[in-house]
Amino acid sequence: MCGIVGYIGHRPARPILIEGLKRLEYRGYDSAGLALVHDDRITIRRSVGRIAALESKLDDKGSDAIVGIAHTRWATHGGPSEKNAHPHVSRSGRIALVHNGIIENYRALRTFLEQQGICCVSETDTEVLAQLIGHFYDGNLEQAVRDALHEVQGTYGIAVVSADEPDRLVAARKGSPLIIGIGDGEYILASDAAAIIAHTHQVIYLSDGEMATLTRDGFRTMTLDAVPVTKEVTAVEFSLDQIELGGHEHFMAKEIFEQPQSIATTLRGRLDPRQGVVTLGGIAHLARDMARARRIIFTAQGTAWHAGLVGEYLFEDIAKLPAETEYASEFRYRNPVIEDGTVVIAISQSGETADTLAALREAKEKGALVLGVVNAVGSTIARESDAGVYLHCGPEIGVASTKAFTSQLAVLIMMAIRLGRRRFLSHDEGCRLIRALAEVPNMASRVLQQSDAIREAVQQYINRENWLFLGRGYNYPIALEGALKLKEISYIHAEGMPAAEMKHGPIALINEGMPVVFIATQCHQYDKVISNIEEVRSRGGRIIAVATEGDTEITSLAEHVFYVPDVPEPIQPLLAVLPLQLLAYHAAVLRGCNVDKPRNLAKSVTVE
Ligand code: AGP
Repeated sequence: MCGIVGYIGHRPARPILIEGLKRLEYRGYDSAGLALVHDDRITIRRSVGRIAALESKLDDKGSDAIVGIAHTRWATHGGPSEKNAHPHVSRSGRIALVHNGIIENYRALRTFLEQQGICCVSETDTEVLAQLIGHFYDGNLEQAVRDALHEVQGTYGIAVVSADEPDRLVAARKGSPLIIGIGDGEYILASDAAAIIAHTHQVIYLSDGEMATLTRDGFRTMTLDAVPVTKEVTAVEFSLDQIELGGHEHFMAKEIFEQPQSIATTLRGRLDPRQGVVTLGGIAHLARDMARARRIIFTAQGTAWHAGLVGEYLFEDIAKLPAETEYASEFRYRNPVIEDGTVVIAISQSGETADTLAALREAKEKGALVLGVVNAVGSTIARESDAGVYLHCGPEIGVASTKAFTSQLAVLIMMAIRLGRRRFLSHDEGCRLIRALAEVPNMASRVLQQSDAIREAVQQYINRENWLFLGRGYNYPIALEGALKLKEISYIHAEGMPAAEMKHGPIALINEGMPVVFIATQCHQYDKVISNIEEVRSRGGRIIAVATEGDTEITSLAEHVFYVPDVPEPIQPLLAVLPLQLLAYHAAVLRGCNVDKPRNLAKSVTVE
């Protein structure tokens, strides 16, 4: 997810663009840039890092330009670097473009351009589009953009300017938001209204498949096939803060409710339910190495470690490969035994966690093949891994990890299926799992609709200072994750463990009214979980259960039941964690805690 701003009017564009980028920085912040159209040329300025780094590079060139575009990046193809930062330009340097989205067929388009003698200089998919527009340009920018977009597969929100047509700005949208603010003799284009409402509340929302050409005298909207479209002007009601938060009170809430979309983005282009095949471009070249794998070691910290623990179950269950999960902080110092055929998988949202990076280096030192499962493109862990799979879930702002966790699970399920299909997983079983995985975004939306009921339920327990979270099998790591979520944002002490383990000591904690959360979805240990629930109830515990839709047995045992759709066991963690994220979130809000920035915590622990 990136941030785009464009301006055309009668005022200097640059300060408006910079201010707009700062309002969109939450959408991505690994590099930034702008393009200013003036004096028959385009001035480009780009920098790695936050907007402030870009500001420090601005000189007086183009300071009086009244047309410009700007971009703050969340890298998807090609790490954070000045070369990969937007705007990207055509070979002539007279057309500049900024883009939010993913050009899925960029490799084929890059080959086509090379056959025309046009070579891209960056690693990005976006530059391909800028070069393609330059290739089609013959004096009509709007038509060149149209011609290029007809060749594109994927998603985009773009803004394009040309030194040869300094009086206009062309925009187009498919799958990534674009809004046009209507001022007095000026127009501001942006990814969301946060960059606009300082100047005007009158906006139009471009829809997928639509384009717009903006001049100082007005704007035209049309389809990609040049059919004119009339757009309704609406007034933005939200405050600025609310817009950055998408109308939510906290980034954590925004990211919890974003998960149907973020999981869908993680899965996009990687699943073929008909063939029962998963395509993971980042490790495609390692098929033989992975087929020779004899052992998998997951290494991570915190929530990412919980994802690794689910991965352990997945790889043993689906790929029939011995797997284990190691805290990176322990792995790095215990002189681990790494035999031939060992694959180490480092999991990290930020890609900068010091212990995980050190564990990765230790594993490489001992000869393991190291893969990264990372969200931040171009991060240190991503760069130092031999190969890997990106989450593509967009920047995660809330310190407590939510959408990154479910995207980590989605990637690990895909990796296990990919590996399993090369080993003992049948075509039919592969198709069954992939079909279920493809349905998760819709199912997640259904689960999240229980948010109000969860808040209602948690209200009566927010002063209980000790909780237990219990689960078995695939849901044991989810019990750990649920406990961590509650601890880190509401400061309530909680402990997760395998449900059976409770009898080996922790049951002594159970007292009258103690909240105990069970993940009790339909699984081959369901009856055992029910027995554990009985054991807790008989000692006065209050049961909060996550169960499978249609389970009526559990309603007689639990004070509160939150349901998830019936899916194969390997897929259950993706859904079972959602009620627990909401439970922790509501508990923290009701206790007046700082949800997005909990005390003592940092989003990325880059120190030991
Ligand atoms: C997650 O809610 C925590 N904030 C924390 O445990 C986090 O998962 C851990 O620090 C690992 O971070 P990483 O995924 O960026 O490596």
